[in-house]
Amino acid sequence: MTIHDFLDLLVRWVHLIAGIMWVGNSMLFNWLDRNLEKSPERAGEVGYEGKLWMVHSGGFYEVEKRQLAPGQMPARLHWFKWQNFTTWASGIGLLVVVYYMNGGAYLIDPSVQALGYGQALAFSVGSVVLTWATYDVLWRTLGKSQPKLAGLLSIAALLVVAWALTQTFAGRAAYLHVGVVLGTVMTGNVWFVIVPSQHKLVAATVSGQEQDYALNQKAKQRSIHNNYMTFPLLFIMLSNHFPGTYTHPLNWLILFVLMFGGAGVRHFMNIRFGFKTTLPWLGPLVAIAVTTVVAVFVLSARPSAASVVTTEKKPKVTFAQAQAIIQMRCHTCHSANPTEPMFPVAPVGVMFDTPAQVQTLAPRIKDRAVTNRTMPFINKTGMEDAERELLGRWVDEGAHLD
Ligand code: HEC
Repeated sequence: MTIHDFLDLLVRWVHLIAGIMWVGNSMLFNWLDRNLEKSPERAGEVGYEGKLWMVHSGGFYEVEKRQLAPGQMPARLHWFKWQNFTTWASGIGLLVVVYYMNGGAYLIDPSVQALGYGQALAFSVGSVVLTWATYDVLWRTLGKSQPKLAGLLSIAALLVVAWALTQTFAGRAAYLHVGVVLGTVMTGNVWFVIVPSQHKLVAATVSGQEQDYALNQKAKQRSIHNNYMTFPLLFIMLSNHFPGTYTHPLNWLILFVLMFGGAGVRHFMNIRFGFKTTLPWLGPLVAIAVTTVVAVFVLSARPSAASVVTTEKKPKVTFAQAQAIIQMRCHTCHSANPTEPMFPVAPVGVMFDTPAQVQTLAPRIKDRAVTNRTMPFINKTGMEDAERELLGRWVDEGAHLD
Protein backbone atom coordinates (compact mmCIF):
# COMPACT_ATOMS: atom_id res chain seq x y z
CA MET A 1 0.00 0.00 0.00
CA THR A 2 1.40 3.40 -0.91
CA ILE A 3 1.28 6.41 1.42
CA HIS A 4 -1.19 7.93 -0.98
CA ASP A 5 -3.52 4.91 -0.70
CA PHE A 6 -3.18 4.96 3.06
CA LEU A 7 -4.14 8.64 3.23
CA ASP A 8 -7.08 7.94 0.96
CA LEU A 9 -8.25 5.12 3.23
CA LEU A 10 -7.89 7.14 6.42
CA VAL A 11 -9.56 10.33 5.21
CA ARG A 12 -12.35 8.37 3.47
CA TRP A 13 -13.07 6.43 6.63
CA VAL A 14 -13.29 9.61 8.74
CA HIS A 15 -15.46 11.22 6.05
CA LEU A 16 -17.89 8.31 6.06
CA ILE A 17 -18.19 8.16 9.86
CA ALA A 18 -18.65 11.92 10.23
CA GLY A 19 -21.13 11.97 7.33
CA ILE A 20 -23.24 9.23 8.89
CA MET A 21 -23.27 11.13 12.20
CA TRP A 22 -24.18 14.43 10.56
CA VAL A 23 -26.89 13.15 8.24
CA GLY A 24 -28.15 10.76 10.93
CA ASN A 25 -28.56 13.63 13.41
CA SER A 26 -30.21 15.83 10.87
CA MET A 27 -32.71 13.11 9.92
CA LEU A 28 -33.46 12.35 13.57
CA PHE A 29 -34.16 16.02 14.35
CA ASN A 30 -36.36 16.32 11.28
CA TRP A 31 -38.27 13.27 12.42
CA LEU A 32 -38.55 14.62 15.98
CA ASP A 33 -39.93 17.95 14.77
CA ARG A 34 -42.60 16.22 12.77
CA ASN A 35 -43.68 13.75 15.43
CA LEU A 36 -44.05 16.07 18.41
CA GLU A 37 -47.43 15.71 20.11
CA LYS A 38 -49.10 18.61 21.88
CA SER A 39 -50.77 17.54 25.10
CA PRO A 40 -54.20 19.25 25.31
CA GLU A 41 -53.62 20.67 28.84
CA ARG A 42 -50.43 22.46 27.75
CA ALA A 43 -51.53 23.48 24.26
CA GLY A 44 -51.96 27.15 25.22
CA GLU A 45 -48.59 27.47 27.00
CA VAL A 46 -46.29 30.11 25.43
CA GLY A 47 -43.29 28.58 23.63
CA TYR A 48 -44.47 24.97 24.08
CA GLU A 49 -44.14 23.01 20.83
CA GLY A 50 -44.88 19.49 22.00
CA LYS A 51 -43.17 16.37 23.20
CA LEU A 52 -42.78 12.67 22.51
CA TRP A 53 -41.65 9.40 24.03
CA MET A 54 -39.19 7.01 22.45
CA VAL A 55 -37.74 3.66 23.40
CA HIS A 56 -34.12 2.82 22.53
CA SER A 57 -31.00 1.30 24.09
CA GLY A 58 -32.68 -0.21 27.14
CA GLY A 59 -34.66 2.78 28.30
CA PHE A 60 -37.25 5.42 27.56
CA TYR A 61 -36.53 8.94 26.33
CA GLU A 62 -38.86 11.85 26.99
CA VAL A 63 -38.09 14.72 24.61
CA GLU A 64 -39.82 18.08 24.74
CA LYS A 65 -39.43 20.99 22.36
CA ARG A 66 -40.02 24.54 23.50
CA GLN A 67 -38.70 28.07 23.25
CA LEU A 68 -37.01 29.37 26.37
CA ALA A 69 -38.35 32.36 28.23
CA PRO A 70 -35.87 35.26 28.70
CA GLY A 71 -33.37 34.50 31.47
CA GLN A 72 -34.08 30.75 31.38
CA MET A 73 -30.95 28.94 30.20
CA PRO A 74 -29.99 25.40 31.17
CA ALA A 75 -26.48 24.98 32.60
CA ARG A 76 -25.51 22.53 29.86
CA LEU A 77 -26.71 22.78 26.29
CA HIS A 78 -25.72 20.27 23.58
CA TRP A 79 -24.88 21.58 20.13
CA PHE A 80 -24.63 19.54 16.95
CA LYS A 81 -22.17 21.28 14.69
CA TRP A 82 -18.87 19.39 14.69
CA GLN A 83 -20.24 16.41 12.77
CA ASN A 84 -20.94 18.77 9.90
CA PHE A 85 -17.56 20.45 10.10
CA THR A 86 -15.69 17.13 10.25
CA THR A 87 -17.61 15.82 7.24
CA TRP A 88 -16.80 18.91 5.21
CA ALA A 89 -13.13 19.12 6.26
CA SER A 90 -12.51 15.42 5.55
CA GLY A 91 -14.36 15.83 2.24
CA ILE A 92 -11.99 18.62 1.24
CA GLY A 93 -9.14 16.36 2.40
CA LEU A 94 -10.40 13.63 0.07
CA LEU A 95 -10.68 16.13 -2.78
CA VAL A 96 -7.00 16.93 -2.30
CA VAL A 97 -5.88 13.30 -1.90
CA VAL A 98 -7.89 11.86 -4.79
CA TYR A 99 -8.08 14.71 -7.30
CA TYR A 100 -5.29 17.21 -6.58
CA MET A 101 -2.50 14.78 -5.77
CA ASN A 102 -1.26 12.34 -8.42
CA GLY A 103 -0.81 15.23 -10.86
CA GLY A 104 -4.58 15.57 -11.26
CA ALA A 105 -4.87 12.15 -12.96
CA TYR A 106 -8.55 11.80 -12.01
CA LEU A 107 -9.29 15.50 -12.45
CA ILE A 108 -8.15 16.22 -15.97
CA ASP A 109 -9.45 14.35 -19.02
CA PRO A 110 -7.93 15.74 -22.23
CA SER A 111 -10.91 14.46 -24.24
CA VAL A 112 -13.15 16.81 -22.19
CA GLN A 113 -10.81 19.78 -21.75
CA ALA A 114 -7.03 19.90 -22.16
CA LEU A 115 -6.35 21.75 -18.91
CA GLY A 116 -2.98 22.36 -17.32
CA TYR A 117 -2.64 21.27 -13.70
CA GLY A 118 -2.68 24.84 -12.34
CA GLN A 119 -5.67 25.74 -14.47
CA ALA A 120 -7.58 22.69 -13.25
CA LEU A 121 -6.89 23.60 -9.61
CA ALA A 122 -8.02 27.17 -10.19
CA PHE A 123 -11.30 25.99 -11.76
CA SER A 124 -11.82 23.51 -8.97
CA VAL A 125 -11.36 25.96 -6.09
CA GLY A 126 -13.03 28.83 -7.99
CA SER A 127 -16.20 26.87 -8.77
CA VAL A 128 -16.72 25.97 -5.12
CA VAL A 129 -15.99 29.41 -3.63
CA LEU A 130 -17.96 31.34 -6.26
CA THR A 131 -21.03 29.13 -6.01
CA TRP A 132 -21.21 29.55 -2.24
CA ALA A 133 -20.72 33.33 -2.47
CA THR A 134 -23.41 33.71 -5.15
CA TYR A 135 -25.90 31.55 -3.27
CA ASP A 136 -25.29 33.34 0.03
CA VAL A 137 -25.66 36.82 -1.45
CA LEU A 138 -28.82 35.74 -3.30
CA TRP A 139 -30.46 34.56 -0.09
CA ARG A 140 -29.33 37.56 1.95
CA THR A 141 -30.94 39.89 -0.60
CA LEU A 142 -33.71 38.56 -2.85
CA GLY A 143 -34.31 35.52 -0.63
CA LYS A 144 -35.69 37.75 2.14
CA SER A 145 -38.58 39.16 0.15
CA GLN A 146 -39.04 36.63 -2.67
CA PRO A 147 -37.99 33.18 -1.49
CA LYS A 148 -39.78 31.40 -4.37
CA LEU A 149 -37.91 33.35 -7.02
CA ALA A 150 -34.63 32.94 -5.13
CA GLY A 151 -35.34 29.20 -4.95
CA LEU A 152 -35.87 28.94 -8.70
CA LEU A 153 -32.73 30.98 -9.38
CA SER A 154 -30.73 28.78 -7.01
CA ILE A 155 -31.85 25.59 -8.78
CA ALA A 156 -31.09 27.12 -12.18
CA ALA A 157 -27.64 28.24 -10.97
CA LEU A 158 -26.91 24.77 -9.63
CA LEU A 159 -27.79 23.22 -12.97
CA VAL A 160 -25.56 25.68 -14.82
CA VAL A 161 -22.66 24.99 -12.45
CA ALA A 162 -23.16 21.21 -12.74
CA TRP A 163 -23.27 21.40 -16.53
CA ALA A 164 -20.17 23.62 -16.68
CA LEU A 165 -18.26 21.23 -14.43
CA THR A 166 -19.05 18.27 -16.71
CA GLN A 167 -17.64 20.31 -19.62
CA THR A 168 -14.45 21.05 -17.69
CA PHE A 169 -13.35 17.98 -15.73
CA ALA A 170 -13.22 14.22 -16.18
CA GLY A 171 -16.75 12.85 -15.60
CA ARG A 172 -16.01 11.34 -12.23
CA ALA A 173 -14.34 14.54 -11.00
CA ALA A 174 -17.19 16.68 -12.37
CA TYR A 175 -19.79 14.72 -10.38
CA LEU A 176 -17.65 14.88 -7.30
CA HIS A 177 -17.24 18.65 -7.69
CA VAL A 178 -21.00 19.11 -7.76
CA GLY A 179 -20.91 17.21 -4.45
CA VAL A 180 -18.20 19.50 -3.07
CA VAL A 181 -20.27 22.53 -4.14
CA LEU A 182 -23.41 21.18 -2.41
CA GLY A 183 -21.47 20.11 0.68
CA THR A 184 -19.82 23.53 0.93
CA VAL A 185 -23.14 25.36 0.58
CA MET A 186 -24.59 23.13 3.33
CA THR A 187 -21.60 23.73 5.59
CA GLY A 188 -21.66 27.47 4.88
CA ASN A 189 -25.34 27.45 5.86
CA VAL A 190 -24.52 25.74 9.14
CA TRP A 191 -21.53 27.90 10.12
CA PHE A 192 -22.42 31.30 8.69
CA VAL A 193 -26.19 31.32 9.19
CA ILE A 194 -27.64 28.57 11.38
CA VAL A 195 -25.04 28.46 14.18
CA PRO A 196 -24.71 32.29 14.44
CA SER A 197 -28.53 32.56 14.66
CA GLN A 198 -28.55 29.98 17.42
CA HIS A 199 -25.77 31.86 19.24
CA LYS A 200 -27.83 35.05 19.09
CA LEU A 201 -30.92 33.23 20.37
CA VAL A 202 -28.92 31.81 23.27
CA ALA A 203 -27.36 35.21 24.04
CA ALA A 204 -30.77 36.89 24.02
CA THR A 205 -32.20 34.27 26.36
CA VAL A 206 -29.26 34.53 28.78
CA SER A 207 -29.48 38.32 28.92
CA GLY A 208 -33.19 38.17 29.56
CA GLN A 209 -34.37 39.56 26.21
CA GLU A 210 -37.13 38.35 23.94
CA GLN A 211 -35.99 36.11 21.05
CA ASP A 212 -35.89 37.52 17.56
CA TYR A 213 -38.13 35.23 15.49
CA ALA A 214 -36.76 36.61 12.21
CA LEU A 215 -33.47 34.93 13.13
CA ASN A 216 -35.28 31.68 13.78
CA GLN A 217 -36.92 31.90 10.38
CA LYS A 218 -33.66 32.62 8.57
CA ALA A 219 -31.97 29.62 10.19
CA LYS A 220 -34.99 27.45 9.38
CA GLN A 221 -34.88 28.50 5.70
CA ARG A 222 -31.25 27.44 5.28
CA SER A 223 -31.85 24.27 7.22
CA ILE A 224 -34.64 23.35 4.75
CA HIS A 225 -32.23 23.92 1.86
CA ASN A 226 -29.76 21.56 3.51
CA ASN A 227 -32.49 18.98 3.97
CA TYR A 228 -33.21 18.91 0.22
CA MET A 229 -29.53 18.73 -0.73
CA THR A 230 -28.84 15.64 1.40
CA PHE A 231 -30.09 12.89 -0.92
CA PRO A 232 -28.56 14.30 -4.14
CA LEU A 233 -25.26 14.69 -2.27
CA LEU A 234 -25.37 11.12 -0.99
CA PHE A 235 -25.80 9.82 -4.55
CA ILE A 236 -22.80 11.86 -5.68
CA MET A 237 -20.73 10.32 -2.89
CA LEU A 238 -21.56 6.89 -4.33
CA SER A 239 -21.28 7.90 -7.97
CA ASN A 240 -17.66 6.79 -8.41
CA HIS A 241 -18.93 3.21 -8.29
CA PHE A 242 -21.08 3.83 -11.36
CA PRO A 243 -18.91 4.77 -14.34
CA GLY A 244 -21.95 4.20 -16.59
CA THR A 245 -23.38 7.49 -15.24
CA TYR A 246 -20.44 9.89 -15.12
CA THR A 247 -18.67 8.76 -18.29
CA HIS A 248 -21.80 9.03 -20.44
CA PRO A 249 -21.88 11.83 -23.06
CA LEU A 250 -25.08 13.03 -21.35
CA ASN A 251 -23.57 12.73 -17.86
CA TRP A 252 -24.89 16.18 -16.87
CA LEU A 253 -28.47 15.21 -17.74
CA ILE A 254 -28.19 11.92 -15.83
CA LEU A 255 -26.93 13.88 -12.82
CA PHE A 256 -29.85 16.35 -13.05
CA VAL A 257 -32.37 13.49 -13.11
CA LEU A 258 -30.74 11.83 -10.11
CA MET A 259 -30.57 15.10 -8.16
CA PHE A 260 -34.23 15.93 -8.83
CA GLY A 261 -35.24 12.35 -8.02
CA GLY A 262 -33.29 12.41 -4.73
CA ALA A 263 -34.72 15.79 -3.68
CA GLY A 264 -38.22 14.64 -4.72
CA VAL A 265 -38.03 11.51 -2.58
CA ARG A 266 -36.82 13.65 0.33
CA HIS A 267 -39.76 15.98 -0.19
CA PHE A 268 -42.35 13.24 0.17
CA MET A 269 -40.53 11.88 3.20
CA ASN A 270 -40.75 15.39 4.69
CA ILE A 271 -44.44 15.93 4.09
CA ARG A 272 -45.61 12.43 4.91
CA PHE A 273 -46.47 13.39 8.50
CA GLY A 274 -49.11 15.78 7.21
CA PHE A 275 -51.18 12.85 5.91
CA LYS A 276 -53.42 10.63 8.03
CA THR A 277 -52.98 7.58 5.81
CA THR A 278 -49.95 6.22 4.03
CA LEU A 279 -51.25 6.13 0.45
CA PRO A 280 -51.28 9.88 -0.45
CA TRP A 281 -47.53 10.30 0.18
CA LEU A 282 -46.24 6.81 -0.53
CA GLY A 283 -47.74 6.86 -4.04
CA PRO A 284 -45.83 9.94 -5.31
CA LEU A 285 -42.69 8.82 -3.46
CA VAL A 286 -42.64 5.45 -5.21
CA ALA A 287 -43.58 7.13 -8.51
CA ILE A 288 -40.65 9.57 -8.26
CA ALA A 289 -38.21 6.83 -7.26
CA VAL A 290 -39.31 4.53 -10.09
CA THR A 291 -39.35 7.35 -12.68
CA THR A 292 -35.83 8.39 -11.66
CA VAL A 293 -34.48 4.85 -11.91
CA VAL A 294 -36.18 4.20 -15.28
CA ALA A 295 -35.08 7.60 -16.67
CA VAL A 296 -31.47 7.00 -15.65
CA PHE A 297 -31.59 3.47 -17.05
CA VAL A 298 -32.98 4.63 -20.39
CA LEU A 299 -30.70 7.68 -20.61
CA SER A 300 -27.54 5.78 -19.79
CA ALA A 301 -28.23 2.88 -22.16
CA ARG A 302 -25.61 2.76 -24.88
CA PRO A 303 -25.73 0.72 -28.04
CA SER A 304 -23.63 -2.34 -27.36
CA ALA A 305 -20.82 -2.90 -29.84
CA ALA A 306 -22.02 -6.48 -30.25
CA SER A 307 -25.40 -5.35 -31.53
CA VAL A 308 -23.81 -3.94 -34.69
CA VAL A 309 -25.05 -6.32 -37.38
CA THR A 310 -22.29 -7.95 -39.32
CA THR A 311 -23.08 -9.80 -42.51
CA GLU A 312 -19.78 -11.47 -43.19
CA LYS A 313 -18.80 -14.46 -41.07
CA LYS A 314 -15.71 -13.49 -39.15
CA PRO A 315 -13.11 -15.99 -37.96
CA LYS A 316 -13.15 -16.85 -34.29
CA VAL A 317 -11.01 -14.54 -32.16
CA THR A 318 -8.20 -16.48 -30.49
CA PHE A 319 -7.12 -15.92 -26.91
CA ALA A 320 -3.67 -14.95 -28.17
CA GLN A 321 -5.26 -12.06 -30.09
CA ALA A 322 -7.28 -10.87 -27.09
CA GLN A 323 -4.30 -11.20 -24.77
CA ALA A 324 -2.05 -9.20 -27.11
CA ILE A 325 -4.53 -6.30 -27.04
CA ILE A 326 -4.83 -6.42 -23.26
CA GLN A 327 -1.07 -6.62 -22.92
CA MET A 328 -0.64 -3.52 -25.05
CA ARG A 329 -3.60 -1.40 -23.91
CA CYS A 330 -4.38 -2.43 -20.33
CA HIS A 331 -1.38 -4.08 -18.77
CA THR A 332 0.57 -0.84 -18.15
CA CYS A 333 -1.88 -0.11 -15.29
CA HIS A 334 -3.56 -3.45 -14.55
CA SER A 335 -0.64 -5.54 -13.41
CA ALA A 336 1.12 -6.56 -10.21
CA ASN A 337 3.92 -4.24 -11.35
CA PRO A 338 2.36 -1.39 -13.31
CA THR A 339 4.67 0.57 -15.59
CA GLU A 340 2.32 3.58 -15.75
CA PRO A 341 3.73 6.16 -13.28
CA MET A 342 0.24 7.55 -12.60
CA PHE A 343 -0.77 4.28 -10.92
CA PRO A 344 2.01 2.60 -8.92
CA VAL A 345 -0.54 -0.01 -7.74
CA ALA A 346 -3.07 -1.77 -10.00
CA PRO A 347 -6.29 0.33 -9.88
CA VAL A 348 -9.03 -1.32 -7.77
CA GLY A 349 -6.83 -4.43 -7.64
CA VAL A 350 -7.71 -5.39 -11.22
CA MET A 351 -4.77 -7.24 -12.81
CA PHE A 352 -4.44 -8.95 -16.16
CA ASP A 353 -1.22 -10.90 -15.51
CA THR A 354 -2.51 -14.46 -16.03
CA PRO A 355 -4.97 -15.94 -18.57
CA ALA A 356 -7.24 -16.93 -15.66
CA GLN A 357 -7.41 -13.32 -14.44
CA VAL A 358 -8.32 -12.11 -17.91
CA GLN A 359 -10.98 -14.78 -18.30
CA THR A 360 -12.57 -14.15 -14.90
CA LEU A 361 -12.84 -10.44 -15.64
CA ALA A 362 -14.15 -10.92 -19.19
CA PRO A 363 -17.63 -9.44 -18.51
CA ARG A 364 -16.07 -6.36 -16.86
CA ILE A 365 -13.58 -6.02 -19.70
CA LYS A 366 -16.42 -5.98 -22.19
CA ASP A 367 -18.43 -3.51 -20.12
CA ARG A 368 -15.57 -1.04 -19.60
CA ALA A 369 -13.57 -1.32 -22.85
CA VAL A 370 -16.26 -2.23 -25.40
CA THR A 371 -19.79 -1.25 -24.31
CA ASN A 372 -19.07 1.87 -22.29
CA ARG A 373 -15.56 2.63 -23.58
CA THR A 374 -14.53 3.97 -20.18
CA MET A 375 -11.27 1.96 -20.26
CA PRO A 376 -8.38 2.41 -20.89
CA PHE A 377 -8.48 5.26 -18.39
CA ILE A 378 -8.75 8.52 -20.43
CA ASN A 379 -7.62 6.25 -23.28
CA LYS A 380 -4.08 6.75 -22.06
CA THR A 381 -2.82 3.83 -24.14
CA GLY A 382 -4.57 4.93 -27.34
CA MET A 383 -6.82 1.89 -27.85
CA GLU A 384 -8.41 1.70 -31.30
CA ASP A 385 -11.99 0.88 -32.28
CA ALA A 386 -10.99 -2.28 -34.16
CA GLU A 387 -9.30 -3.57 -31.00
CA ARG A 388 -12.41 -2.89 -28.93
CA GLU A 389 -14.52 -4.74 -31.47
CA LEU A 390 -12.16 -7.72 -31.44
CA LEU A 391 -12.09 -7.85 -27.64
CA GLY A 392 -15.90 -7.69 -27.53
CA ARG A 393 -16.17 -10.59 -29.95
CA TRP A 394 -13.74 -12.65 -27.89
CA VAL A 395 -15.97 -12.17 -24.82
CA ASP A 396 -19.16 -12.88 -26.81
CA GLU A 397 -17.66 -16.08 -28.18
CA GLY A 398 -17.30 -17.37 -24.62
CA ALA A 399 -14.00 -15.84 -23.43
CA HIS A 400 -12.24 -19.13 -24.18
CA LEU A 401 -8.53 -19.64 -23.52
CA ASP A 402 -7.59 -21.23 -26.86
C1 HEC B 1 -3.83 4.46 -17.51
C2 HEC B 1 -4.23 3.41 -16.64
C3 HEC B 1 -5.28 2.41 -17.06
C4 HEC B 1 -5.31 1.67 -18.23
C5 HEC B 1 -4.31 1.69 -19.38
C6 HEC B 1 -6.47 0.81 -18.12
N1 HEC B 1 -7.11 1.04 -16.94
FE1 HEC B 1 -8.69 0.02 -16.20
N2 HEC B 1 -8.71 1.15 -14.51
C7 HEC B 1 -7.88 2.24 -14.32
C8 HEC B 1 -8.37 2.97 -13.14
C9 HEC B 1 -7.75 4.24 -12.59
C10 HEC B 1 -9.48 2.27 -12.65
C11 HEC B 1 -10.32 2.63 -11.43
C12 HEC B 1 -11.28 3.76 -11.74
C13 HEC B 1 -12.46 3.34 -12.55
O1 HEC B 1 -13.05 2.28 -12.29
O2 HEC B 1 -12.82 4.11 -13.46
C14 HEC B 1 -9.65 1.11 -13.51
C15 HEC B 1 -10.61 0.16 -13.32
C16 HEC B 1 -10.82 -0.89 -14.19
C17 HEC B 1 -11.71 -2.00 -13.93
C18 HEC B 1 -12.43 -2.28 -12.64
C19 HEC B 1 -13.69 -1.53 -12.45
C20 HEC B 1 -14.89 -2.23 -13.01
O3 HEC B 1 -15.71 -1.51 -13.57
O4 HEC B 1 -15.02 -3.46 -12.89
C21 HEC B 1 -11.69 -2.80 -15.05
C22 HEC B 1 -12.47 -4.08 -15.26
C23 HEC B 1 -10.78 -2.20 -15.98
N3 HEC B 1 -10.25 -1.04 -15.43
C24 HEC B 1 -10.50 -2.70 -17.23
C25 HEC B 1 -9.53 -2.19 -18.09
C26 HEC B 1 -9.28 -2.71 -19.42
C27 HEC B 1 -10.02 -3.87 -20.06
C28 HEC B 1 -8.27 -1.97 -19.94
C29 HEC B 1 -7.66 -2.08 -21.30
C30 HEC B 1 -8.55 -2.08 -22.43
C31 HEC B 1 -7.88 -0.99 -18.94
N4 HEC B 1 -8.69 -1.14 -17.84
C32 HEC B 1 -6.85 -0.08 -19.09
C33 HEC B 1 -6.77 2.59 -15.05
C34 HEC B 1 -6.43 2.02 -16.26
